[in-house]
Amino acid sequence: MKKNTVVAIDGPVGSGKSTISRKAAEKLGFIYVDTGALYRALGVFFEEKRIDFNTNVKVDIRFIDKEQRVFVDDTDYTDKIRTPKASMLASAVSAKPEVREFLLELQRSFAKNNSVIMDGRDIGTVVLPDADIKIFLTADAKERAKRRYDELILKGTSVEFDDVLKDLEKRDYDDSHREHAPLKKADDAIVADTTGNTFNESVALVLKIIEDRL
Ligand code: DC
Repeated sequence: MKKNTVVAIDGPVGSGKSTISRKAAEKLGFIYVDTGALYRALGVFFEEKRIDFNTNVKVDIRFIDKEQRVFVDDTDYTDKIRTPKASMLASAVSAKPEVREFLLELQRSFAKNNSVIMDGRDIGTVVLPDADIKIFLTADAKERAKRRYDELILKGTSVEFDDVLKDLEKRDYDDSHREHAPLKKADDAIVADTTGNTFNESVALVLKIIEDRL
């Protein structure tokens, strides 16, 4: 039997990683693991409990109707993690080396027996350094901010474009300059620049990179 295929996709905020990865995984019949959701769920959990991070907590990912759901101490946090506050809490918690270490085994376990697309910031560099295919997904900062701005407006959030751009540039800077597992292209990653692409064009680009190497 052919060995499972492991695809690591990293990239900055708003590069379209999660939507593109989800769609590409669906087309290939791979499972899709969104690792940002783990940092988000832990950030929200510890804020809610008003305690500092500790490793007595149980985190797991369950696939329900093919959708990834994140459980902390057996409570489903998935519907609480997509707010600007959760982004901020995730960013803070993700800078702690003990948190990154704590989540390592769980993330790696998905790549052991499954064909998987896993996305995050350090998947090709730290979590799955032996991934079969590594992609660094990026796009021009203004375009990424425009995509994020359009998403927020669509949800009914009132925001200024310049604030979204500033926020995104700050998160890019923080994610790339933190001491532990910063966002960085793996030496053997293929850069996929989606500037100017439609969503479908970006999915096709990622699928082509993967299929060419299968
Ligand atoms: O991809 P996202 O916006 O859901 O990620 C939330 C935060 O978690 C973001 O600040 C970066 C961090 N993160 C990380 O440090 N490593 C990962 N593999 C995934 C996310």
